[in-house]
Amino acid sequence: MPDAPPVSTPPRVLPPNDPRQYDDLADEWWRPDGAFAMLHWLARARAALVPPATRPGALLVDLGCGAGLLAPHLAGKGYRHVGVDLTRSALRQAAEHGVTVVNGDATAVPLADGCADVVSAGELLEHVPDWRRAVAEACRLLRPGGLLVLDTLNDTLLARLVAVEIGERLPAVPRGIHDPRLFVDARALVAECARHGVDLRVRGVRPELRGTAGWLFRRMRGRSADRLGGTGPRIVPTRSTAVLYQGRGVRGG
Ligand SMILES: C[S@@+](CC[C@H](N)C(=O)[O-])C[C@H]1O[C@@H](n2cnc3c(N)ncnc32)[C@H](O)[C@@H]1O
Repeated sequence: MPDAPPVSTPPRVLPPNDPRQYDDLADEWWRPDGAFAMLHWLARARAALVPPATRPGALLVDLGCGAGLLAPHLAGKGYRHVGVDLTRSALRQAAEHGVTVVNGDATAVPLADGCADVVSAGELLEHVPDWRRAVAEACRLLRPGGLLVLDTLNDTLLARLVAVEIGERLPAVPRGIHDPRLFVDARALVAECARHGVDLRVRGVRPELRGTAGWLFRRMRGRSADRLGGTGPRIVPTRSTAVLYQGRGVRGG
């Protein structure tokens, strides 16, 4: 009898925002031109909001740290970098990049009140069904005078259009990674932080247009940013917070 032809397994289709997507995409985290390319650009911009540590042993807690993309941008700033995430396959990679990892939920973090000099929540809140709980945890972890830095997607029609309908068709964003029903209204976020003693200031950000067009063009031609020695487009401030925004706030004493 002739051999049966090999059967290839189709990629599994998961519901939007299903965390198992991060396992399926585990090889993409550290590819500069991979499905998580934009997370590298955002990590660099987020780290720029973090000043050097002011005391020995300062702690930065990175909620939803993924594979630790923030780590190289914190080098030399003097923090011990602790990352909390649900996804074990991502945490294994974060550990390889010097992050002390905790497998846990950002809505119930197994760390002490006031332990952190800085809390980072990069591209996390729009993935958490109870984002208010994650914000409460972020603020609880901060010591008085500690700094919260974050970026997330706004709960607007424009964000749905740009980040999901258009963005998820581009190579820098995996399809189905977002559930737009979880996007975070910027005013509600500021109010929630205030309730927990953190005076959050937000500003709109976006990838720089020329750099992004060049990046997409090079990628479509199969030329990697790595080979070109590039670091990807810069994230720049923009007047509107209607799509993507950063937040930076200090916890009162
Ligand atoms: C878009 S990725 C961002 C990763 C990282 N902050 C970065 O910017 O590279 C979202 C991450 O949040 C994690 N995540 C989602 N919900 C979470 C939760 N409730 N608690 C902890 N981590 C969560 C996912 O596993 C994933 O690693």
